[in-house]
Amino acid sequence: MKLTPDEQAMLDGQQGKAKQKAMDLLVRYGEALGAERLVDTKNVCGTVGASTPFLREFAQKKGGMDAVFSEFNLDSAEVVQIPKVAVFSSHLQHGIDPEHGDRQGVPAEVVQVHRKGEAYAAGLGIQLLNTCAPYTVGNVPTRGEHCAWMESSAVIYINAVLGARTNAEGRESAGCAMLTGKIPYWGYHIEENRRGTHHVELDIDVESTADWGLLGYYVGEVVQDRVPVISGTRNVPNLARLKHFGAAAASSGGVEMYHLVGITPEAPTLDAAFGGRPRPETIRYGKAERRQAYEAANVTAKNRNVDFIMLGCPHYTIEQIWEVSKLLEGRKLSPNTEMWIFTPRQTAHLAEQNGYAKIIREAGAHLMSDTCSSMGRLLPKGTKVAACDSVKQAHYLPAIMGIESWFGTTADCVNAAVTGRWSGGLD
Ligand code: F3S
Repeated sequence: MKLTPDEQAMLDGQQGKAKQKAMDLLVRYGEALGAERLVDTKNVCGTVGASTPFLREFAQKKGGMDAVFSEFNLDSAEVVQIPKVAVFSSHLQHGIDPEHGDRQGVPAEVVQVHRKGEAYAAGLGIQLLNTCAPYTVGNVPTRGEHCAWMESSAVIYINAVLGARTNAEGRESAGCAMLTGKIPYWGYHIEENRRGTHHVELDIDVESTADWGLLGYYVGEVVQDRVPVISGTRNVPNLARLKHFGAAAASSGGVEMYHLVGITPEAPTLDAAFGGRPRPETIRYGKAERRQAYEAANVTAKNRNVDFIMLGCPHYTIEQIWEVSKLLEGRKLSPNTEMWIFTPRQTAHLAEQNGYAKIIREAGAHLMSDTCSSMGRLLPKGTKVAACDSVKQAHYLPAIMGIESWFGTTADCVNAAVTGRWSGGLD
């Protein structure tokens, strides 16, 4: 890999041991990928600290967060002192919400280690956005901006909707990018890799957030990790719909980039989305495909007695909280159900200010931040059957937690929370 003089200086240890180790890892990683060079980045989203049980134990045994960063961000058994980050870096979701440790069944000592990790990240200069949807709370990369982001649902959003450029990074490469401001130049950093590989034409209206999730789930399954181009959209989807579409496509297939013709920035026309290359055969998405996706999203669900309703995957926007508060207003959750709604802390503050949090509390539901059920492996005690309005969460919860999960609209989920019974279905 060709290095610039400043990259070589870091690799030679002229800027300290931590940067040397970071640069060494980036070079090894880039060479394994076949990258010819690194690219500058000034926007990194990753994770540090100790928010999972294993890392918390490691931090306690090894006696500190520098040890965790060295081992799990720099791949170094030798503990080195970690300097402040070199570029704008944001923290993604954690494994717990320290404000709701009791309800999430997290022991107080674990919350304490978590808070140490959080203080450590802040000390390094990392922005504590603590969400899988940083683009909803101020980290909004611009078109063409080279980024180094983890979190599949965020990666696909900033690539496709914002036209920023990132691959789905790991904890190690993102940690190294924080310290160096560099990331291998390959994959979706390169113009030609961003062009479409598959063409999906919509034969039906795709309107609701749930429908965008189903479309994403279907498309991901069909194209796997390639670049779908979707045409025939009759409605312009909002942020929440594209958030759900991307999260679902990244779950069923590993999609990191897509184009919506006439909507996303790199697809003003069908030809532009394919970069002038010949178009592949068209895949059609109609009623049958929508049903197929719905059935796949509900494949684990059998028991209609629901005990847990999880909303906010990816973390809810303020618009979604407003919507759910309207659905909950004046109603009470069934004594047999628990409802957790996940949103960034900043959005939770806004929900409080606007009175939505009060409505949610009065209904008996809980607004939480920083984590989610799948990420933190957190469920109310005894949960057997969940309901979600996110295909991604319905996909992961049964696999990770061994429970059943229904998928439906937000209204279906709120009804289940109030009645204790799942009555959703496809119209
Ligand atoms: Fe976010 Fe958890 Fe979903 S981290 S994207 S809410 S699986």
